[in-house]
Amino acid sequence: MLPTIRSCLDAAKMQLSQAMPVAEASIEARILLMEVLQVNHAWLLGHALELLSEQKQAAFNALLARRLQGEPVAHILGHREFFGLRLKVTPDTLIPRPDTETLVEAALEKINCHARGKPLQILDLGTGSGAIALAIAKHGPDCMVTAVDASPAALAVAQHNAESLGIDNVRFIASHWFSAIDEQRYDLIVSNPPYIEADDPHLQSGDLRFEPLSALAAGPDGLSDLRIIIAEASAHLQPGGWLMLEHGYQQAADVAGLLQAAGLVNISHATDLAGIQRVTLSQVSEPDQHMSQVN
Ligand SMILES: C[S@@+](CC[C@H](N)C(=O)[O-])C[C@H]1O[C@@H](n2cnc3c(N)ncnc32)[C@H](O)[C@@H]1O
Repeated sequence: MLPTIRSCLDAAKMQLSQAMPVAEASIEARILLMEVLQVNHAWLLGHALELLSEQKQAAFNALLARRLQGEPVAHILGHREFFGLRLKVTPDTLIPRPDTETLVEAALEKINCHARGKPLQILDLGTGSGAIALAIAKHGPDCMVTAVDASPAALAVAQHNAESLGIDNVRFIASHWFSAIDEQRYDLIVSNPPYIEADDPHLQSGDLRFEPLSALAAGPDGLSDLRIIIAEASAHLQPGGWLMLEHGYQQAADVAGLLQAAGLVNISHATDLAGIQRVTLSQVSEPDQHMSQVN
C-alpha cells in the first residue's frame, strides 16, 4: 500500500532526528519532499493525506539517503536562498549563511544614506556564490559592484547566478584579495573572508566537511585573511570610504584592534539575529577628520 505524504514526512523526520534537533529534522524532511514534488509548503499541508507514488517515494528516499550521509541540503538541492535571491551553490562555493545577511543590511544602510551623484563603487572580496555582491547590486540603488575570488570555480558559479538573476551591475575578477584590483578607489569594501582557526575540529564535522577548506580556514588564529584585507584596504578606499567585515563570533575585539592599528576610524559592530557581534564596520578618515586626529 502506498504511504501518505504525512506518513512519509513523519518517517523521514524520525530518521533525520537521529542527527539533528527534531524541529530542524522536520523542516529538512519537508524541504526535500517539496523539491521532489516541486510544490510549496502550503501545498504539502493541504495534501497531507494524499498518497505518494512509488516513483516519487523512491526519489524522496534517494534525497533522504544523501542527507543521512551528511551531504548539506543546499548541495542536494543545488541552490540556497539568500536575501531573497535563489543562488546556485556547488561544492566549490561556501553555502551562504543567514548571518551574512547582517553584512548586506549594514552595507545597504550606508549605501541608502549616501548622497547620490555618480554610482557608488563597491568591492566584494571573496565572493563565493556571489551572495553579498548580488544582494547589494540588486537592492542598492545606483551602484557598481566588483566581486573577486581566488577560486575560478567559485567565480563561475557567481557569474552564473548574476546571469540567471538578470543582475548586470556586477563584474567578476579572479584575484588573490587585492592582487588583481586596479587603481579604482572604492566607496565601500565588504568581505566575508575565511575566519575559522585551521585546527578547529568543527571543520571536520557537519556541513563544513562538504565546503571548500579555502573558503573557511584562515591560519592558526583564523585571522590571517582578515589581517591582509585590513592592512591593504585603505589603499583601495576613497577618503571617507567604508570597510565592512564579517568575522567569527569571538573575533570582534581582535578585528577592531587590527582596524584601529591600520588607522581606520569610526569602528563599530553590527549584531546578527542571535545578538552576536558578527560584522565590524570602519571608515577611512576624511582629510579633515585625519587632521583633527593628528592635532
Ligand atoms: C567565507 S567564504 C564567503 C563566500 C561568500 N562571500 C559568502 O558570504 O557566502 C570566503 C571566500 O573567500 C575566497 N577566498 C579565500 N582566499 C582568498 C584569497 N586569497 N583571495 C580571494 N578570495 C579568497 C574563497 O574562495 C571563498 O569563496
